[in-house]
Amino acid sequence: MDSLRIDLDRRQRRSLTEQIHDSIASAIREGHLYEGARLPSWRDLATQVGVSRGTVKTAYERLADEQLVVACGAAGTFVASPLPLAQSRLNEVPSRLPLPEIYRDFDSPPKPFQVGVPATDMFPYKVWSRTIVRYSRLAATETTRYHDPRGEVELRKEVAAYLSVTRGLQCSADQVIITNGYAGALGLALHALKLKSRQVWVEDPGYPLTRRAISLAGYTPVPIAVDTQGLDVGEGLERAPNASLAVVTASQQAPLGMSLSPARRRALLEWGAAAGAWIIEDDYLSELKLSGKAAPPLASLDGDGRVIYIGTFSKTISPTLRLGFMVVPSALVNFFGDVAAALSPASSLATQLAVAAFMRDGHYLRHIRRMKRLYAQRRDALLRQLGEGGIFNTMAGLSLLLTLPDGADDVKIAEAAEAQELAPAPLSIWYADNNSKVKSGLLLGVTNLSDAVLESSCRHLEDLIQRHA
Ligand SMILES: Cc1ncc(COP(=O)(O)O)c(C=O)c1O
Repeated sequence: MDSLRIDLDRRQRRSLTEQIHDSIASAIREGHLYEGARLPSWRDLATQVGVSRGTVKTAYERLADEQLVVACGAAGTFVASPLPLAQSRLNEVPSRLPLPEIYRDFDSPPKPFQVGVPATDMFPYKVWSRTIVRYSRLAATETTRYHDPRGEVELRKEVAAYLSVTRGLQCSADQVIITNGYAGALGLALHALKLKSRQVWVEDPGYPLTRRAISLAGYTPVPIAVDTQGLDVGEGLERAPNASLAVVTASQQAPLGMSLSPARRRALLEWGAAAGAWIIEDDYLSELKLSGKAAPPLASLDGDGRVIYIGTFSKTISPTLRLGFMVVPSALVNFFGDVAAALSPASSLATQLAVAAFMRDGHYLRHIRRMKRLYAQRRDALLRQLGEGGIFNTMAGLSLLLTLPDGADDVKIAEAAEAQELAPAPLSIWYADNNSKVKSGLLLGVTNLSDAVLESSCRHLEDLIQRHA
């Protein structure tokens, strides 16, 4: 065993066991110790290098766990045939963020005009931290059970009560499934629905992630135009009469903000019932509507059990929670429960229980009321600022839409804005790739436009637009 040299250094932070293990492991991997070679006994090696037998034994056990040696009892310990490490894989580190056309940056706090994130300066940190700490402690004592994959019943009951009171959607807790945000619910639905055809109506413009999710699930998104009444159901019937699913943002269209008109709602539900098609309703803003009351969800009008309703806590509490929910028609409840259990069980017990308590104790509704008031003030302040600059604009959900002249490159303007720490979203990326009527514009989120940054952000943005348009 000339090829086994172990030099121990007692001043190192690595333990003696680790040093013995590492020396033998490198000798094997580098081919100095060949397959079948017998290692010295614990006693011999311990005497040779001046450590206790236990230290050598632990090092040998680790080597055996890693399949580098085989322990054969009294016969001794032998070098196993080493499996070559796949070196090339180690170098194949992904070089870009996932979905870079949608996500630019996961690490920085929201910038002025950023869309899709709640205000950072009005979150009820104190009450939320108290609640989450309390339920994290409780969850720490609950380490040995699998929990209901549909979500904790406490939270499902709170969600059912909330939807009934504030959104006029009557459902039982059994119909509610807790998910990993809207994205998790959409994934679950796309797995669980047995779609008769590959075609799916999506709004155009519409949420880019919905389009991508549908393609990734192996279906074909068919972009259907959105006009002042929302999704043009007539166009859907003409272009893809055999589609088996439609995904809509009926209460507040994403990104343009209008609600689906009563006539279109009727037409969509009638199509679902007659064609045996499904409708996924993305109610991502819930009751967060800045003027008047949010339109009721389509699901509240669905007498035929064709609508799968999806809500999220990403806008009303925080996207960090990764928490959402879906309401499933009674006939699908058991099957969706099975799919949730097998493919996407509800996550973190502590988060679910904390949100349930936050809702039960009245903090959730109070927080939503305060957010609506603050966002409306921020919207008015933004309108005043931009009004002075003379740019044409309309409200779209929690954003203001600045329409740019046709041909203006909104993506370039948004990139230039980002270099100045502003984050308006280009409207054009919300359109399907092959749409010839793409409009150019900038969506300016109002949620994080505090007084301190409003005026300077608007002046910088106006300069940028003038330079590029
Ligand atoms: C149209 C739309 N739906 C849903 C969501 C929320 O998704 P999630 O719950 O996965 O965060 C967003 C977020 O920006 C959105 O714009």
